Amino acid sequence: MTRPLPTDRITPAELPGRIWQELQRATVDRHHEWRTPVLASVDADGLPQARTVVLRRADAEARTLTCFTDARSPKCADLQARPRAALVFWSQRLGWQLRITADARVATDGPAVQAAWERVRPSAAATDYLMPRAPGAPLDTTTTGPAGERHHLAIVQLEVRAIDWLELHRDGHRRGRWDGGPAQGGEPAGWVWLTP
Ligand SMILES: Cc1cc2nc3c(=O)[nH]c(=O)nc-3n(C[C@H](O)[C@H](O)[C@H](O)COP(=O)(O)O)c2cc1C
Repeated sequence: MTRPLPTDRITPAELPGRIWQELQRATVDRHHEWRTPVLASVDADGLPQARTVVLRRADAEARTLTCFTDARSPKCADLQARPRAALVFWSQRLGWQLRITADARVATDGPAVQAAWERVRPSAAATDYLMPRAPGAPLDTTTTGPAGERHHLAIVQLEVRAIDWLELHRDGHRRGRWDGGPAQGGEPAGWVWLTP
C-alpha cells in the first residue's frame, strides 16, 4: 500500500529541478554538503577506486558536472581509459543521497583548461596543480622544492546518465531514479519511483 506523501515534502514534479538547484548551490557554497562528493572510477585491474573531489560546476541544461584534478593523477588515466564514473553525494540537511552514474571526459589542455587555470591561479588551491611530482608518487624530500611553473590542472566533465535519489525522512523514505527516458504516467520525464 502506498502512503500519501505529506504535503510539506517536495513533490515529484519539483524534484528534478531541486536536485540540480542543490548541485549548483554546492558549487558556490563552501558549506554545502554536496560540495565534496565521492567520485568512483575503475582502474586497470577492474577494481573500483573512490575519492573525494570538489564539485566545481553543475549545468542542469547540459546535465554535466565538473571537477578539477591533477592531469598526472591515477584517476585521470583511469577515466581516460575507462570513461565510466559514479558520484555519491549525501546531505544531512536535506536527508538526500544522490548516486550518479556518468560518462567522463578528461581535458588536459585547450582553452577550457586554460580558462579554468586562470581562475584557480590566484587562489591558494593553485599550488595543488603546481607540485613538481605527480600525486601518488613516492615522497622524495630531495625533489619536493618550491612549486613548479607548469600547472597540471585537468578538467573532468561528467555527463550524467542516471540519478538514484534517496530521501531519508521520519514520515517514510522515498527513492526515485532518473535515466533520461520518456515521461511515464504523469511523472517528471525520465523518473520512476522505487522501493527505498
Ligand atoms: C575534501 C577533499 C576535497 C578534495 N578535492 C579534490 C579535487 O577536487 N580534485 C582532486 O583531484 N582531488 C581532490 N581531493 C584528493 C582526492 O580525494 C585524492 O586523494 C587525490 O585526488 C588522489 O586520487 P587518485 O589517486 O585516485 O587519483 C580532495 C580530498 C578531500 C579530502
